[in-house]
Amino acid sequence: MCGIIGYIGTRPATPILIGGLKRLEYRGYDSAGLALLEPKSILTYRSVGKVAHLVEKVRLNLTPERQNELTVGIAHTRWATHGAPTEANAHPHYDKSRRICVVHNGIIENYRTIREKLQAKGHKFDSDTDTEALSRLIGECYRGDLRKAVINALRQIEGAYGIAVLCADEPDKMVVARKGSPLVIGIGEGECLVASDPSALVAHTQRVIYLDDGDVAVITPDLVDIRNLDDEPIERNVSELGLDVGAVEKGGYEHFMLKEIFEQPETVRNALRGRIDLKEGTAILSGMNATPAELAEIARIIVVGCGTSLHAGMVGEFAFEDVAGISTEVQQAAEFRYRNPIVDRNDMVIAISQSGETADTLAAIRKAKEKGTKVFGLVNVVGSAIAREAGRGVFIHAGPEISVASTKAFTGQVAVLLLMALKLGRTRRLSNEDSLKLAQEINRLPELVEYVLKQNDAIAKVAERMAQSDHAFFLGRGPMHPVALEGALKLKEISYVHAEGYHAAEMKHGPIALLTPGVPVVVLANHSPVLDKVWSNAEECKARGARIIAVVTEGEPKTDLADDTIVLPPCSPLVATIPAAVALQLLAYHVARLRGCSIDQPRNLAKSVTVE
Ligand code: M6R
Repeated sequence: MCGIIGYIGTRPATPILIGGLKRLEYRGYDSAGLALLEPKSILTYRSVGKVAHLVEKVRLNLTPERQNELTVGIAHTRWATHGAPTEANAHPHYDKSRRICVVHNGIIENYRTIREKLQAKGHKFDSDTDTEALSRLIGECYRGDLRKAVINALRQIEGAYGIAVLCADEPDKMVVARKGSPLVIGIGEGECLVASDPSALVAHTQRVIYLDDGDVAVITPDLVDIRNLDDEPIERNVSELGLDVGAVEKGGYEHFMLKEIFEQPETVRNALRGRIDLKEGTAILSGMNATPAELAEIARIIVVGCGTSLHAGMVGEFAFEDVAGISTEVQQAAEFRYRNPIVDRNDMVIAISQSGETADTLAAIRKAKEKGTKVFGLVNVVGSAIAREAGRGVFIHAGPEISVASTKAFTGQVAVLLLMALKLGRTRRLSNEDSLKLAQEINRLPELVEYVLKQNDAIAKVAERMAQSDHAFFLGRGPMHPVALEGALKLKEISYVHAEGYHAAEMKHGPIALLTPGVPVVVLANHSPVLDKVWSNAEECKARGARIIAVVTEGEPKTDLADDTIVLPPCSPLVATIPAAVALQLLAYHVARLRGCSIDQPRNLAKSVTVE
């Protein structure tokens, strides 16, 4: 969940590291730090809070002339796991001799044992972190060869790590390694970089090597030497990123979240591009790499994921059952991995993840594979651990999602789940006519999203009234139930408003006790076979003084129940989940903005959850 950037070359390292940290800040923003190799020692700066604080510290302590001389360094932005977000706990961490320095993303699970052993040998720890146990262990293993020391230390480590290590006695190299936490090497002309994700590399190079679990690489300006933990050479391919800098910048928007919300007509189009067969009424999903026989034998689908990806999976459940007639269940990935799930070879597990790094989702895939089940990934980040572990699946092609609150990934995920359902449905129970109709509707998704985005100003007005309340409810039925959950999640994570998402029928079974006059209740009252029931549930809330914000379908009869209205374009309930989610994203965004919140980097959160 932390961000790592490293540079070795001939250019001044400091601005490159700082620039990289700014790009990686969304991965964690409790504290930041950097280490620069001097001719005979390592210089470090660390500070609490955002990268901006570190920038100021470096500016005050390091003259531009001095910065120009230092061309090797590593840096880190932290999401605290062990120890509070203090300067002492910020990375980099030294070894005992202070000649080795480490930045780390992940968790060293056996750090207490290592710490105790080192303390018994006289080590006095400067921080509460697990990382310091590793940096000191590397120092203990050091006999004049940094790579060997890192390998020896890592062989004693349990847990997850992406690390970059510098040694004052070997200034011509940096050693990096990964297991469970991502690390990608960027290859430039006479320089190399390493980062937790490619967003920190795009400004410098398009040529990258994705490290795999167990890889340890020695990086020099002209060479990348990759070994395994037995110190045997490993070959890894060089890939082209195919990303431009614009994809990781705000592009004139006030926040990444708003930019990403407005990108959705395009990102949904990208998710669908080349994948809809409008003549046959089916989907072409070559990444699934599944034979018709394999698809035909699927008796049950199990979707695993966390957070927003879990909500997308819940929409998928309705699609797979309604469209394809395949029994589907959705499980929180952390639950799936530990509950001894009952799955067999006729099941299909779909793991959904924007980042492709979420520790629980990755572990769920491994569990499913152990059980001999077919596993498919539905991932945004190409080259990510989940994409590679799944081996087959579908990328959503949403581009880098920088805002911690996930938006365009959700709509991309749902769009692809609809395509999967269409493909499976076409070979099962869907009539020719229904297949063609659904294919055409899915194909119209970009314009359906545009329709909602045009109401941005009106939604901002609705948000003005909503922003005054510290509580909110989101209600939906059928496929709109997960959209209600997602709407509540968006609001709570970026505006800190206490928001609850419920099945509309569930309110009267308890939660309605929480309603007081004026509390906003967002009701997903789109065109559907259960619309009358939804209105009855809204009525029950209205009778308790709630303020009803209704998300309705254009052309439906007007009702005087709603205090505010957001309008969706006419479409089927399944397809409407996407424009409805966009409406709720905008609502959450404007509420958070009016409440003066840190929208792209909400408190306590980080973008990729690489810990359990
Ligand atoms: O990268 P993933 O999709 O696996 O991430 C899962 C969740 O951590 C993520 O969706 C999280 O809930 C977001 N903050 C939601 O906006």
